[in-house]
Amino acid sequence: MSTLGKASLLEQAGSPAVVRDITIDDPGRDEVLIKVAASGVCHTDLTVKMLNGNGMSFPIVLGHEGAGYVEKVGEGVTHLKQGDPVVIAYRAPCGQCPACQKGDPRRCYMALRPQPRIKRASDGAQCSQVLRCGTFSTHTVVHAKAAIKMPESMPLDKACLIACGVITGVGATLNTSPVERGSRVAVIGCGGVGLNVIQGAKIAGAKQIIAVDVNPTKLQWAKDFGATHTVNAKDGDPVAAVRKLTDDGWDGGVEFAYEATGIPTCIEQAVKMLSYGGTATTIGFPAQTDAVNLNLGDMATGVYWNKAALRVCHCGDTLPSHDFPMLADLYLKGQLNLDQMVTRKISLDEVEDAFHEMETGNVIRSVIVF
Ligand SMILES: NC(=O)c1ccc[n+]([C@@H]2O[C@H](COP(=O)([O-])OP(=O)(O)OC[C@H]3O[C@@H](n4cnc5c(N)ncnc54)[C@H](O)[C@@H]3O)[C@@H](O)[C@H]2O)c1
Ligand SMILES: [Zn+2]
Ligand SMILES: [Zn+2]
Repeated sequence: MSTLGKASLLEQAGSPAVVRDITIDDPGRDEVLIKVAASGVCHTDLTVKMLNGNGMSFPIVLGHEGAGYVEKVGEGVTHLKQGDPVVIAYRAPCGQCPACQKGDPRRCYMALRPQPRIKRASDGAQCSQVLRCGTFSTHTVVHAKAAIKMPESMPLDKACLIACGVITGVGATLNTSPVERGSRVAVIGCGGVGLNVIQGAKIAGAKQIIAVDVNPTKLQWAKDFGATHTVNAKDGDPVAAVRKLTDDGWDGGVEFAYEATGIPTCIEQAVKMLSYGGTATTIGFPAQTDAVNLNLGDMATGVYWNKAALRVCHCGDTLPSHDFPMLADLYLKGQLNLDQMVTRKISLDEVEDAFHEMETGNVIRSVIVF
């Protein structure tokens, strides 16, 4: 029997997100129906809207940073039962691709997805779910392996943030480009993701963490999350500022630079900030035509002479079944700051307002609480 609910939908290109009645079919084999308790609003949801759905068919249920309770389990699901608190992972490894086959599920080529089970109530139109999740919704159906059980003591309005912002940032520093103890780190963009790169770099034992942003409020928050230095990119060239702060008589630069803005120029800056043999990591979500221009031959900052590496981070190269409980444990021990990430709690009909706040800047995460 299908369930009735409400979701924030993008109904067509260029239109705002609107709350609509939906019906949710029962979960099929290896699927679970989740009653969503909370969902963070990530910049990627706004990007999907700005890119007119980015290839997904309308209507689209937004949201991919969610937590809730298992309401129904499909056939074959034995590791979860009704009432279990879970965080929804958008990259649960498939077990079939070449990476999974060689035992490297963190680099899985694809992710497990449910069959389409959500319909707009008014006309029965089949809905797409952003990143296989669709958490701006009272209910969603996901693959059972994408529902990661949380400890009973974990508050779900904080746990939801683990699903994207936290694991992407922390995972970038632990999995994608692991920060070596005692190294120097720069983080360009200190939003929901960048602040978690800072937390991750601190956990990994970086000796210097330089936060770069254009918003003084974000730079203040960056210090709260563990930055040792801040650079306002509006005050001049951030590459020169970072090189100066790290000057060690060997031209300065950081061993690890992370870009968390979605702005191509910031990727170029991350590469130019590196010390010899350093690694830059790009996290921001690109548009199809975005490109970067990397100099090879400059003696100080060129990719060739500086022996620079550039890596790409997808959701912190996470193995959710391992990483999500580990992050919940760090939070419960007071070693991961999630409380300060929730700058606003909102209701389902305030998604557009949350997008506006994100663009104007003074929020880490708006969290929809159901
Ligand atoms: N790769 C992934 O798996 C993944 C996961 C989550 C988010 N993302 C992407 O990561 C990016 C960041 O997401 P978020 O939720 O943290 O966004 P956000 O809007 O919360 O943060 C972006 C930050 O960048 C800062 N910024 C803007 N212009 C800047 C500049 N020129 N120099 C320095 N800082 C600047 C903003 O002030 C803001 O603090 C987005 O592009 C998002 O789509 C990617
Ligand atoms: Zn996200
Ligand atoms: Zn795989």
